[in-house]
Parts: sequence; C-alpha cells; structure tokens
Amino acid sequence: MKKLVAYFSASGVTKSAAERLAKAAGADLFEIKPAVPYTRADLDWTNKKSRSSVEMNNPASRPEIAEQISNIEDYDTIFIGFPIWWYVAPTIINTFVESYDLSGKTIVPFATSGGSGLGKTAEVLIPLCPYANWERGKMLNHVSEQELETWANRF
Ligand SMILES: Cc1cc2nc3c(=O)[nH]c(=O)nc-3n(C[C@H](O)[C@H](O)[C@H](O)COP(=O)(O)O)c2cc1C
Repeated sequence: MKKLVAYFSASGVTKSAAERLAKAAGADLFEIKPAVPYTRADLDWTNKKSRSSVEMNNPASRPEIAEQISNIEDYDTIFIGFPIWWYVAPTIINTFVESYDLSGKTIVPFATSGGSGLGKTAEVLIPLCPYANWERGKMLNHVSEQELETWANRF
C-alpha cells in the first residue's frame, strides 16, 4: 500500500504540516507548485483585485500546475493538503484533482488555516472527482505527533 502526500503551500505552513504527515504516514511527498508562483501581493485577501481574490471568486479558475506526478497509479492513498482560502481549498487544488484519474483511490484532505475549519472544502472538491473514495479531512494546525501518527495510519 503506497501513500502520497501532495500539498500546495503559499507561505510554508502547509508545507511543514505535509512534511510531518509524510513522515508519520511513511508516505512520499509531492509539492503542487503553481506554474506562476504567488507573490505577497497575490495573497492579499483585503484587495478584491488581488490574484487570489479574483481566482477564489471564479468557480472556473484552474491555476496551472508546474509539474505532474508521473507515477500516480502507484498510490492507493493520497493525502491532499492546502491552506484554507475563503473557507475552501485554493482553486489550484481543483486543478490538481481534475488532472488525474483518481477513481477508486482513497483521498484524504488536510489543511492549515488562520483559525477556520475545512468549511465547504468537501462540497467543492468531491463533485470534481466523484469516483474517488473521499475521507473526512482534518485540520493540521495544532496536532501533536501522537495524534498525527494515529490519524495518518487509519488510512
Ligand atoms: C487568500 C487567502 C485567504 C485566506 N482565507 C482564510 C480563511 O478563510 N480562513 C482562515 O482561517 N484562514 C485563511 N487564510 C489564512 C491561511 O489559511 C493560513 O495562513 C494558512 O496556514 C497558510 O498556509 P500556507 O503557509 O501553507 O500557504 C487565508 C490566506 C490567504 C492568503
């Protein structure tokens, strides 16, 4: 049973959660890198015209990913991690789940945030990839190694 942790992180918080998770789960690690990296200005949620605001206001937004996973068929379980943006996953995660045939694979979302939970993440992502076996996601902001390990090895 091979596991993968695939994550997007704009400012490093989800990246460190993903690294801890990969270690706890004995999983491979893949960074979902945007073809065009997000600048600080892009991430300004107080500006309605910033790149992140424009993307998050457009359900059809699918930011391009720089690199693909060549051996996705090797994995049975894929943890997908991201920061919460406006109570959902950044639209680059929509790009990611539509980029592969994930039918029958176990998909486990995880996220970090400034305080809110997973919000409507599942409601948005599941219809984009309905034949995967979606597990309930988890916020990984403040989990102990013990809790992380127990959770990661349930899948
Ligand atoms: C555009 C944008 C929107 C955000 N929206 C939320 C939100 O709705 N709720 C929340 O708690 N935090 C929100 N945040 C904060 C991030 O979720 C939080 O800082 C996260 O840990 C960043 O992860 P990263 O360093 O991996 O990018 C937002 C951040 C950005 C840049």
